[in-house]
Amino acid sequence: MASFRIENITKAFGKFTALNQVSTELDEDLISAIIGPNGAGKTTLVNVCTGMFPPDSGGLFFDSRNVTKQPSHKRVQLGIARTFQIVNIFPELTVRENIRVPLLYARHKTEVEEAADALLDTYGLARFRDTRAVNISHGDQKLLEMAMAIAVAPKVLFLDEPTAGVGMEEKEKIIETVQRFKGKNMITAIIEHDMETVFRIADRIIVMNEGEVIAQGSPEEIKSNAFVRKIYLKEEV
Ligand SMILES: Nc1ncnc2c1ncn2[C@@H]1O[C@H](COP(=O)(O)OP(=O)(O)OP(=O)(O)O)[C@@H](O)[C@H]1O
Ligand SMILES: [Mg+2]
Repeated sequence: MASFRIENITKAFGKFTALNQVSTELDEDLISAIIGPNGAGKTTLVNVCTGMFPPDSGGLFFDSRNVTKQPSHKRVQLGIARTFQIVNIFPELTVRENIRVPLLYARHKTEVEEAADALLDTYGLARFRDTRAVNISHGDQKLLEMAMAIAVAPKVLFLDEPTAGVGMEEKEKIIETVQRFKGKNMITAIIEHDMETVFRIADRIIVMNEGEVIAQGSPEEIKSNAFVRKIYLKEEV
């Protein structure tokens, strides 16, 4: 079973420690949710895991391979992909042209057009194929970004708040899409603030606060965690 192991990762920005000795493991075929208040270090952890910047110390291991010092393009080649908290697409290109970008990189050129149409269908984006990405809804942009990440057939996928700021209907589509990643030999990690969604889709939950992992375990275990109940479920504990 493949896994992505995060071992004692520390990352500071100047004097501020954004990640402090973070350790966890993300397993294949499970959806791991990373939760925690604003500024907890969730996005920073994904940035470090995907090679946006190196950690100050600690190690990252994908399938026993040490990727700690691999540049981000190498990690993409190994199958480590992500989406961004702030939508990261090509706004002036059409939806279909956006999808073609990762496909041109990942597939043989004879497969690109067919694969692009298949992805547009799967993500319910076919009707926007010739629309410039800037002109579709925020939720559809989030779906487009997910389709672009999936286009490279990743083995590890980090989703940074894929449902943030999207409408109810699109949110449902996004959740269903994430659920479909299960059983596809993928390692999926999702940063999500909405606890209802978290408890619905996560097999494992990692709770962060002030740069540290303060709890991790099954949804049942995390539901009874005092910090989670206080911060998220607004209970007096
Ligand atoms: N490149 C950077 N330079 C300086 N400080 C940074 C940088 N990136 C993140 N930080 C700081 O590190 C802390 C953690 O930020 P991060 O974006 O990882 O939080 P988060 O858990 O994703 O929060 P949110 O839920 O608001 O997205 C914050 O205080 C942030 O200001
Ligand atoms: Mg964030």
